[in-house]
Amino acid sequence: MDNAAVIREYDAATDAQSLRACFVDLQEFERTLEPDLPSGAAVADAYLRWMLGRCATWDGAVFVATVGDAAVGFVSVWARVPQDELDEPPGEYAAVSDLVVRPAFRRRGIGRRLLAEAERYVRTRGAATLKIGVLTRNVGARRLYERAGFSEYRVQMTKRLR
Ligand SMILES: CC(C)(COP(=O)(O)OP(=O)(O)OC[C@H]1O[C@@H](n2cnc3c(N)ncnc32)[C@H](O)[C@@H]1OP(=O)(O)O)[C@@H](O)C(=O)NCCC(=O)NCCS
Repeated sequence: MDNAAVIREYDAATDAQSLRACFVDLQEFERTLEPDLPSGAAVADAYLRWMLGRCATWDGAVFVATVGDAAVGFVSVWARVPQDELDEPPGEYAAVSDLVVRPAFRRRGIGRRLLAEAERYVRTRGAATLKIGVLTRNVGARRLYERAGFSEYRVQMTKRLR
């Protein structure tokens, strides 16, 4: 359990650079599992703009875990994502869009605390269901989610055609 990390809401005035560094770590980690993914540096700025824009539209929030002045991890969560699949339960659901802890700070309970903060936030907004997408090969994250009470819902299959 890491008591030194402080979890608080993202502040664009002070956290933009360390949020970007966290995102690059997230993307680079996922690239170790799926090498076709674009590099973190290539997509960070556009992705983070999109993610924060979705937060504004879908009643979301970003929480950072800070040690000293820097964010060492973050979670982005949306409380009201409109369901756009006609064959799924209608209405809205909540979703964690991103979760990462920088490598030097992993396995100290920070990821679990960020996830709990995201869940607390969407509960205050009245959400009934919280979803997270995760790469099948991401065994560590899947274990974290299962231990936090999530269960597998849909498996997306892919087949290489060329
Ligand atoms: C997944 C991630 C956010 C977990 O953050 P963390 O701060 O290291 O996680 P915690 O220390 O809170 O771990 C909580 C529990 O999750 C599980 N867990 C976390 N990382 C794990 C790993 N690498 N392997 C196996 N289990 C793991 C364990 O059950 C752990 O409890 P324990 O340490 O008592 O065994 C972090 O490893 C990370 O940023 N990974 C790269 C990015 C990523 O995969 N993000 C998720 C994308 S869907």
